[in-house]
Amino acid sequence: MGTFVITGGASGIGKAIADKLRDDGHNCLSLDLQTADIVADLSSPAGRQQAAKDIEAATAGELSGLVTSAGVGSHLPDMGLITEVNYFGTVELVEALRPLLARNRASVLLVSSNSAPMPTNDDFVDRLLDGDREAARALAESMHGQQVYSGTKQAVTRWMRRHTVACAEAGIRINAIGPGYTRTPLSLAAEDHPQYGEAIKQFIATIPIGRPGQPEDMAEAASFLLSERASFICGAMLYVDGGHDAMMRPDAL
Ligand SMILES: NC(=O)c1ccc[n+]([C@@H]2O[C@H](COP(=O)([O-])OP(=O)(O)OC[C@H]3O[C@@H](n4cnc5c(N)ncnc54)[C@H](O)[C@@H]3O)[C@@H](O)[C@H]2O)c1
Repeated sequence: MGTFVITGGASGIGKAIADKLRDDGHNCLSLDLQTADIVADLSSPAGRQQAAKDIEAATAGELSGLVTSAGVGSHLPDMGLITEVNYFGTVELVEALRPLLARNRASVLLVSSNSAPMPTNDDFVDRLLDGDREAARALAESMHGQQVYSGTKQAVTRWMRRHTVACAEAGIRINAIGPGYTRTPLSLAAEDHPQYGEAIKQFIATIPIGRPGQPEDMAEAASFLLSERASFICGAMLYVDGGHDAMMRPDAL
């Protein structure tokens, strides 16, 4: 059994994944802003570099897997924060940990979203994928929060696809899950939003399977994808969304 680090592991989907991996017999370290085994702030380059050092120290160099679930919602007014945490807080951390992940032939699971294919600003996504933080942040300021959110998730997913081969060649198996609407503190805050709350409730009512997701639904998928049972699954984005993506994009693969 191995040691896993879960960013955003203090709450919601990340916490459920950590609990499930512990039930599977693994040693799990949560990384979060507070109430975590590793307290770190992924919203700045310095915070991300420090987080990578702290992970290496806390795991004593033995890391079987990394889950990146830290994220903030589209309802926040700070577009720069959504950009920094959701995109750079994911990919810069994986980059910084790449040598450690390769030494351990580790498995990585990125928590994206089923909003990744939704309409956004293509220039914003391109700037993210270029790693141009300043330009991406500047563009984000002119965008709606939902576009910034889905843009960061699209970029995270495309970054995963672009790096799948290099990761596999280095011994790292990387995948993503695309949660649909899932009841967590993040989504409940959006549901309570005075401006968007009603539209979100109507959106939830259209989930084909007839209920919103629970963090445990995401944890089941994560447990499988991180395990040896999924050893030939690599570069995949698994929608865990009660059929919502298929409903919205029936002809897209
Ligand atoms: N809940 C949903 O409906 C839903 C749907 C699709 C995708 N997601 C994604 O799932 C992930 C987890 O979301 P959740 O719903 O469990 O939310 P949550 O708010 O319950 O958990 C997110 C965690 O990330 C942490 N975090 C935020 N900023 C951070 C920072 N700067 N540094 C370190 N940690 C930070 C928070 O403290 C929190 O513990 C997010 O990436 C989110 O975008 C959620």
